[in-house]
Amino acid sequence: MHNQARLIVHGGAWSIPDEYVDAHLNGVGKALSEVFPKLQKGMSAMDGVEQAVNILEADPTFDAGRGAFLNEIGEVELDAIIMDGQTLAFGAVAALQNILHPVSVARKVMEKTEHTFLVGAGALSFALKMGFEELAPQALLTERELAFFDNIKNQKDFKTHHPFEFQPRDTVGAVAMDLQGNLAVATSTGGTARKLRGRVGDSPIAGAGAYADNELGAVSATGWGESIMKVILSKRVCDDFLHKEAMDAAKSSIKYLEERVKGLGGVIGINAKGDYAYAFNTKRMARGYVQNGELVLAIDH
Ligand code: GLY
Repeated sequence: MHNQARLIVHGGAWSIPDEYVDAHLNGVGKALSEVFPKLQKGMSAMDGVEQAVNILEADPTFDAGRGAFLNEIGEVELDAIIMDGQTLAFGAVAALQNILHPVSVARKVMEKTEHTFLVGAGALSFALKMGFEELAPQALLTERELAFFDNIKNQKDFKTHHPFEFQPRDTVGAVAMDLQGNLAVATSTGGTARKLRGRVGDSPIAGAGAYADNELGAVSATGWGESIMKVILSKRVCDDFLHKEAMDAAKSSIKYLEERVKGLGGVIGINAKGDYAYAFNTKRMARGYVQNGELVLAIDH
């Protein structure tokens, strides 16, 4: 039994402009201040990461749930994963439409099916069977994203990784260690702007967008999914936790992402001893954690 739980969350690695900094820090702070006290009273790490990500999915500041980027035809398609470090069980969904909390559907995939990963129409049909509300497509759209989509939809030289360099949003994630010492991770995203219909990024891929193993640690990634998948970023950091200090493990994996595949992104994590880790090579990454009862929020390097 540990006497201190741990919780670290991120709201995306991007070049977040100054005018969006407060919204990012407020969103991350809300997730931490609502969920950490419950973890400290004995809530499981799995419940902790799901609840923290639910708060971020509902906040239109972030590219997850409400406020997600639109795909090439102006629709929202959501990806998410949740993973239990005690058993290595996970559930994931991808290209899920009209559901506010894909991470909770992912958890149902893990707990109520023989499978680990459902996509598209099948994921939606499963969510409805599990009692999730199907929203009208407009319910997840924001004016901001519609305006952004109008701006980029006909740009000839547009590449889906460009928004990582100039747009203020990305994926959300949470990593927790509960009082039993169990680790869990959850990651949720709307993917990249103007992505092809059916495109799936790193976020719901175990090892890439998230990984949790009580024996190693747990990590959630954010950033340009096509690069993150190539280096299986979250598992790489977890493996490095065995040989390196927590922060060094995060930093060296981000360096590898950059040098090996010119990748862009960031990670947050907790090693098996309960030390926090984070690193990113974008201009900013919204993040926060609770250390000795104090909320620590940051966005810059
Ligand atoms: N990291 C989010 C994505 O590329 O889909």
